[in-house]
Amino acid sequence: AMVTAVAYRLAEQHAERQRLMEVKRRMEEGMKRGLARDTHDSASVKMLPTYVRSTPDGTERGDFLALDLGGTNFRVLLVRVRSGKRRSVEMHNKIYTISQDIMQGTGEELFDHIVHCIGDFLEYMGLKGASLPLGFTFSFPCHQTRLDQGILLKWTKGFKATGCEGEDVAALLKDAIHRMEEFDLDVVAVVNDTVGTMMTCGYEDQRCEVGLIVGTGTNACYMEEMENVELVEGDDGLMCVNMEWGAFGDRGELDEFCTQFDAAVDERSANPGKQRFEKMISGMYLGEIVRNVLLDFTTRGLLFRGKLSERLKTRGIFETKFLSQIESDRLALRQVRSILQHLGLVSSTCEDSILVKEVCSVVSRRAAQLCGAGLAAVVDKIRQNRNLEQLTVTVGVDGTLYKLHPHFSTIMRETLKDLAPQCDVSLVQSEDGSGKGAALITAVACRLRDAKK
Ligand code: BG6
Ligand code: GLC
Repeated sequence: AMVTAVAYRLAEQHAERQRLMEVKRRMEEGMKRGLARDTHDSASVKMLPTYVRSTPDGTERGDFLALDLGGTNFRVLLVRVRSGKRRSVEMHNKIYTISQDIMQGTGEELFDHIVHCIGDFLEYMGLKGASLPLGFTFSFPCHQTRLDQGILLKWTKGFKATGCEGEDVAALLKDAIHRMEEFDLDVVAVVNDTVGTMMTCGYEDQRCEVGLIVGTGTNACYMEEMENVELVEGDDGLMCVNMEWGAFGDRGELDEFCTQFDAAVDERSANPGKQRFEKMISGMYLGEIVRNVLLDFTTRGLLFRGKLSERLKTRGIFETKFLSQIESDRLALRQVRSILQHLGLVSSTCEDSILVKEVCSVVSRRAAQLCGAGLAAVVDKIRQNRNLEQLTVTVGVDGTLYKLHPHFSTIMRETLKDLAPQCDVSLVQSEDGSGKGAALITAVACRLRDAKK
């Protein structure tokens, strides 16, 4: 029996590896499709040009405001950047809430609220009336034809505010500032959170050429050769591309890897059929996958003595932080049980706790592997672009799932190593968020603009 079990495990592992290699291959294909002019429109992975052409070099300086919208927290920041010998970055920030009502109300309400928060922050910092250049981290897919504009292609991650899709978010922000008539701001850059994160880490590490987010949503950016960025004129140098890899799978590329549980989560989401890769990986959805598995197991009498509770039928009860807690190795089963009780799953037994923990670990393991396969495609593309046998590169990473989950980063790293053996990848966690990076981008843009005058 033992031998059969081992043979079975080996066969399983082999099949798993084949599947992940196939995911990597399809991601590579998807990237090419998104970059090329004649296939871009039909591509799922949009590979959006960002007009960021270099990573930081330490000469950036000045005082900037930054906004950070689209993750767990909405922040307003003041970033003071010094260059030269006293090279340093000083940051002050305040977190504001964006209620469900505002996320799903009108665009005017959303942007009025944002401007109200900026006003409050300026007062709090004693900067009332100051007009500083602003970098806007806006973590949604935007079509850019220049740095200071971004047309929102579609909302993701549960945002629904009306009247924003198809509009330039910098203009929406400026309109709201003018409506309020209290201060003026110079919106210099619209920046995706992946790009902000890459720049934040790039300030410390010159090798950082990739940005990765695994939080509420998931996405990556990297420095691509201009000659491959067909949507933008010119063949010299590099440009950062915001992949929007969350939408990988929207052309059916992941269908054969999806389960009935993925289908259920997708169907009941705010954007059915969209962001399929993201829905298998990121914090906003993993808990929902787990809940759907638990529902199924309970109906089949395998869990909670076969009793479906109202709680278990409620969408969104399994927040990412619970997943991370349940899977923590230091946690005794008794504690798993108390988390389940806290979630209103009161009638749980010890066996229930073991099974729930196992479900969580299967779901998060698959997520980490898929993410690793995606990242393998990215670093291998950079390596091939440069005709290298071996590439050394740093990836700047942010997001609560990546940071809080006890095993996600380890499993992702293993997959990456296995699928991109010709790349030496250092994964560096961003401690400062993407606001710092947005300010660095703003600094460079201001310098170039002043030089032109
Ligand atoms: C933050 C960045 O640290 O991480 C944000 O500053 C980003 O820009 C966020 O969106 C992603 O993580 P989460 O878990 O908050 O979605
Ligand atoms: C979603 C957004 C993307 C963002 C990611 C991580 O996928 O579409 O722009 O980078 O979430 O926050």
